[in-house]
Amino acid sequence: MKNKTALLFLIIALSALLLGVFFGLFASLQYIIPDFLKELVPFNKMRPFHVTTVISWIVLCATGSIYFFITKEEGFKLFSYRLFKTHFILFVLTGIGIYVSFLTGKMEGREYLAYTPILTIPIVIGWILFGINYFKTLSKNIKNWPVYYWMWGTGIVFMIYHLCEAHFWMIPSFRSHFIKDISVQWKSYGSFVGSWNMLVYGIAIYLMSKIKKDSTLAYGKTVFFFYFLGLTNLMFGWAHHTYIIPTQPWIRYVAYAISMTEWVVLAHIIYSWIKTLSNEDKKKYCMVYKFLRAADFWVFLNIILALLFSIPVINFFTHGTHITVAHSMGTTIGINTTILLAAVFFIVQKSLPNYKIDTLFIKRSYKAFNVSLFFFFCALLVAGVKKSNWMYFTKEVHFSEMQDSLYYVYIAFFVFGLSLVFSIISLATVLLKALLKAVK
Ligand code: HEM
Repeated sequence: MKNKTALLFLIIALSALLLGVFFGLFASLQYIIPDFLKELVPFNKMRPFHVTTVISWIVLCATGSIYFFITKEEGFKLFSYRLFKTHFILFVLTGIGIYVSFLTGKMEGREYLAYTPILTIPIVIGWILFGINYFKTLSKNIKNWPVYYWMWGTGIVFMIYHLCEAHFWMIPSFRSHFIKDISVQWKSYGSFVGSWNMLVYGIAIYLMSKIKKDSTLAYGKTVFFFYFLGLTNLMFGWAHHTYIIPTQPWIRYVAYAISMTEWVVLAHIIYSWIKTLSNEDKKKYCMVYKFLRAADFWVFLNIILALLFSIPVINFFTHGTHITVAHSMGTTIGINTTILLAAVFFIVQKSLPNYKIDTLFIKRSYKAFNVSLFFFFCALLVAGVKKSNWMYFTKEVHFSEMQDSLYYVYIAFFVFGLSLVFSIISLATVLLKALLKAVK
């Protein structure tokens, strides 16, 4: 293979996944043993280490997959390999910068972007380089674009804007106005997630249409409806993140309806694909098929949870509990990670057609992944319900007593987390080994 930068993106992404789940595991251990690694990396640092690293897994894997699809699968001549390499080096150096910023306690950023804000500049530059390369490469073929080209292009453009918007709080006129500040902050995070969802859902549609060799999947009315719904959700779906802020109720209801409809349509697209896929294709792309099927199941489970906790009266009780964490991890692991693992399996199969993967081992790891994730998710829901009960329905019970009462739930969370980590290690190392062979 001539240019291997796309595969290097995937190698770094899988390494981030491996590292990220360890940070998560250590954070879950700190629930049970608060003094664990406290001197070195306390929970308030471990959490950003975990969240930033796993978000990097999603973003880097989506980026590497898109570069691979347009250059290797679609055969387009990339506008500039130099920009491509600069993008890669910039992201790797910024990643190192983020860890240094966490380790040295320079964490002036907010929430999911807790690192020192100056590091957002190279990240935004990286996305701009990606955007230039993407649009310059595909602009000659703009006629009759399949839906996934639109989704990837939209994801890149909105990612640039929302990364900037997430830092509007640095402008004094925003920071001095509490409601404006919080609204814009949560709006940007919602849209930031919407932007990477555009990239990841576009990848899911790409994989489905390539495996089935069916272009209606990429041009049909349903997928374009899904694209516009996703775009609307990206722009307005944030409103259901801001229930606590006094905004117009209709804004929240519209946002809520759009985000739920988007998931229903995605579940429908994947389900229809599964139903009509031939046994031969299921066998040929066995792991890609399995992971997309798993994504469908997780979309369904997350719809049920989100439908419930987005009802304002229920949201009031779940806000600030582990139910929100169940939602974030349920979607980023159950939906984003499964689609991206499907993409890496597809890419490995295309890059090394004769490479033998231990199918039995992979199938077992796949099962372990789904079963552990299910119980991990349930443990978070139980912890959330118990915490909510403490917050709103009990009196004179101290926080430490509530934490003590959650001890066995936290143990369950840790044990299923550990099993989830093992399954992810098994899957990721097999893929990493194959990718390292492909770049040799
Ligand atoms: C692909 C794998 C994973 C992804 C994508 C992921 C994603 C996330 C995200 C997005 C959050 C932020 C939640 C929020 O703010 O609502 C989070 C928090 C967390 N995750 Fe994960 N996670 C992964 C694996 C794990 C594993 C395996 C464990 C434990 C064994 C774990 C433990 C935690 C903990 C303890 C938190 C902090 C929750 C809190 O704030 O109390 N994660 N994760």
